[in-house]
Order: sequence, then structure tokens, then C-alpha cells
Amino acid sequence: MANYPEYFNPDMELLTRPEIEALQLQKLKKTVEHCMNSAFYRQRFAEAHLKPEDIKSLDDLRRIPFTTKQDLRNTYPFGMAAVPLEQCVRLHSSSGTTGNPTVILHTQKDLDMWANCMARCMWMVGLRPTDVFQNSSGYGMFTGGLGMQYGAEKVGMLTVPAAAGNSRRQIKFITDFGTTAVHAIPSYATRLYEVMQEVGVDPRRDTKLKTLLIGAEPHTEEQRRRIEEMLGVKAYNSFGMSEMCGPSVAFECQYQNGMHIWEDYYIVEIVDPETLEPVPEGEVGEMVLTTLNREAMPMLRYRTHDLTRILSGPCPCGRVHKRLDRMKGRSDDMIILKGVNIFPMQIEQVLMQFKELSSQYLITLYTTDDNDDMRVDVELNEMTDDYNFLQNLTRQITLRLKDEILCTPKVKLLPKGTLPQQEGKAVRVKDERKHFA
Ligand code: COA
Ligand code: AMP
Ligand code: ZN
Repeated sequence: MANYPEYFNPDMELLTRPEIEALQLQKLKKTVEHCMNSAFYRQRFAEAHLKPEDIKSLDDLRRIPFTTKQDLRNTYPFGMAAVPLEQCVRLHSSSGTTGNPTVILHTQKDLDMWANCMARCMWMVGLRPTDVFQNSSGYGMFTGGLGMQYGAEKVGMLTVPAAAGNSRRQIKFITDFGTTAVHAIPSYATRLYEVMQEVGVDPRRDTKLKTLLIGAEPHTEEQRRRIEEMLGVKAYNSFGMSEMCGPSVAFECQYQNGMHIWEDYYIVEIVDPETLEPVPEGEVGEMVLTTLNREAMPMLRYRTHDLTRILSGPCPCGRVHKRLDRMKGRSDDMIILKGVNIFPMQIEQVLMQFKELSSQYLITLYTTDDNDDMRVDVELNEMTDDYNFLQNLTRQITLRLKDEILCTPKVKLLPKGTLPQQEGKAVRVKDERKHFA
């Protein structure tokens, strides 16, 4: 067997702290200058009475205004681009047709950088060209699909782009193709195990599985250990988001003690979500990210709304790139269900298009048989015992919701006054999923 090197990109992975900071400053200045090609950032800088040459140190980053998801929505679809559209080769977009979704553009160089960074992450957890890599993420607009795909090909693995769904087929691929590594969100990993039991496949006896890449939704350490135990693998947490390109932003190394965020690609800040001031070192706050290598749509101080903290101390792997603790939740009301990001407002907007429905509704997230699901209880303006009418309306609402949020909720129509009346700000979402207990 070939003798593979330990690091994918030792020059970047083994930078010292002073080297990282020097590189970040150089790249930050370049990024800010490049941002002036974007009408959005030009206006932002003018409003803040700021010029690119004012950014002289890494501390000066704090003079730059934050960028938000709302900015992406306001400039939909291409208003934030920093290159002409003809230089872009791909876009990824969030779910939703009611408010403006968000769009992220990529040049070929962006995609190459992303694939390289993704390959670096995979190599870090021990994946090599001898591995067979199967991806259970949705392809198309979900960045977990193509993002992982190009990274795995860059590593040189045989790839199985199975995509989301059809667990029996996933398991057949795993056994027939000798899959050694799978990318699956944690809740789907437990679903896969459940189906393996149904079809009589013992992962230790009947498969070559050894590595699982998990991420995309909050999960506990206990849930990770349970998945590892069930499938007989090591499961590595990873963080990514479409606005930063997708998976590869931060990844655990073989020590599984927090996710190294690649500081040659991103500058990370942790701020208090209320005051937006930096929190003391090591405390939990909202993560804010600045991209350092992006051409098509650079992001300056992007508010992720993800809550985490920076872990202190050196990592035995030798990399000094900062380590993020597992995500502690969100500072907004975004729900992640089956790896899909959903805002309750999207559901409300669909419901309100049906004149038969009142404005009282409740979204419940729950787990049955290791499957996550959503139920939407909604009150009718007028109750009827016309079974066909109720069934037809339920179907129409379900289909419209599926178009909007890409998952299929169970819709339940209720007589007026059934849902608990609430004083003050209504609680619209109840999260009873097992792994969030
Ligand atoms: N990844 C892979 N498969 C998933 C999944 C996920 N996150 N969530 C559910 N599935 C599987 C289900 O287990 C089911 O297959 P099975 O019955 O053979 O086990 C099948 O997909 C359909 O799921 P269901 O819950 O019935 O349908 P839905 O309409 O509510 O959801 C999905 C449809 C799964 C296609 C949609 O939720 C999706 O595309 N999820 C993937 C999102 C993703 O890849 N995100 C990026 C992560 S980096
Ligand atoms: P998307 O843009 O669809 O890739 O979704 C990005 C969001 O998924 C992030 O902002 C997080 O809220 C969530 N996410 C991604 N990775 C993780 C992870 N490892 N743990 C918890 N949440 C995650
Ligand atoms: Zn490490």
C-alpha cells in the first residue's frame, strides 16, 4: 500500500500563531479591497465612513459593519457579487419561495479552494485514496452534496454519490461497494442503523465502515458516542454553512476535541448576540466569520447566529488553527430538520395563504423510531365534518409546505380554540426531538 503523507497541506495546516496572523492580515486587506467591486460593500463602507486602507491591523476588522442573512435577502439574487456574473460558474440557494431565499455565487477558483479545503479535512481524519466514500447528503442546492463530493474526489477516494433518502439502497451500496466512510447527519446515522437492523446487516460483521463524517445539525457528545457504538466507527464532527461555501469551514481532527477552524480561510470572532461586543476568551457567544479567499461573494463579519466558543490549549495533532466547541444552538429561531434549514416564518406564510385557516398554529418537532419529523397543528376558521374536504385541504397544505421547506410535515387540522391560548409572545415551536433533550 502506498505510503501517504500525514498532512494534506502541511504548509497551511502547520502554520504557527504569528504566521497565521500575518497571513490573515495580508488576506484581509486583499479581501476588503476586492469587496469594493461589490456595490453592496461599497455602500456599506461609505455609510460607515470607512476606506479599505483604514484596515491596517487585524483589530481594525472590528471597524467593519456586520453582514447578515437579511443583507443577502435584500440583495437577492446577485446584488452582493464582487465579480461580473460571467466569471461565476455555480450558485447555491437556500430553501423557500415566500421571502427571498439566499443565494451564494462561486467562481471556479472558489470551487477549487473549497474542494482543497474539504480534502484537507477528510485527510485530517485519516481518509486516503484507498477509502470508499459514500455521501448521503442531498445533491443540488444542499452544499453537503457537491461540497463533500469534490473534496472526496480531490483526496482520490472512490466516491458513491448516493444522495439523500432510500436507506435500504444506501445499505446495499455500503455492503456491495465496500464503503469505508459515510457522510451523514447525526439523526440520519441513527436511522441508517435502525434500517440495518431491519434488513439484518450487522455493521461490524457485514460492512467495512470505519469513519463517519457528521455535522449540519446540533448534537450532543452522547449522541456521537452512541452513533460510534452502534455503527462501529469513529464519527467526526464538522461545521459548514452555505454562506461560507459549505462543509469544510471547521472539522475535528483525529483527537475529536473540537473542530479546527481553518484560519487561512476564515477569521473567527465570538460576540455577544445582544451587544455584538466580543465575549471574553473561551465564553459562548455568536460566531462571526470573515472569508479570506472568496472571489465571487466575499463575506465580511458575517453573523452566523450559531452559538459556540473557542476551546483553549494546544491540540496534540500539532495544528494551531483554533478549535470550536460543538454548536450550542442558535441565536435566532432557525430550525434544522433532517439537515434542512427552516424558519418558522416560512411555515406561517404558507399557512396564511389558506383562507380556511386561522392564525393559530403550533409546530412540533419530534422523534419516532429514530426518525425526526415535524407536525403542524393548525386551527380552522370553521370546523366541518366533511371528511373529503378536510382530507383534501390537509393534502394541499402538506404539498405547499413541502415545496417551501423541502421536508414533509404531518399536518393536523383542529377546531378553533383547541390550541392553548398564549399571552405575550406566542410559542410557535416545540422541539421534543430525542437528541436535543
Ligand atoms: N439525509 C439522508 N437521508 C435522509 C435524511 C438526511 N438528512 N433525512 C431523511 N432521510 C431519508 C429518510 O430516512 C427516508 O428514507 P427511508 O425511509 O428509506 O429511511 C427518506 O430520506 C425520505 O425521508 P422522509 O422523512 O420520508 O421525507 P421528507 O420529505 O420529510 O424529507 C428529504 C425529504 C430527506 C429528501 C429532505 O429532508 C432532504 O433533502 N434532506 C437532506 C438535507 C441535506 O442533505 N442537507 C445537507 C446536510 S450537509
Ligand atoms: P447550511 O447553510 O444549509 O449548510 O446550514 C448551515 C447551518 O447548519 C449552520 O449555520 C449551523 O446552524 C448548522 N450546522 C452546520 N454544521 C453544524 C454542526 N456540526 N453542528 C451543529 N450545527 C451545524
Ligand atoms: Zn487537532
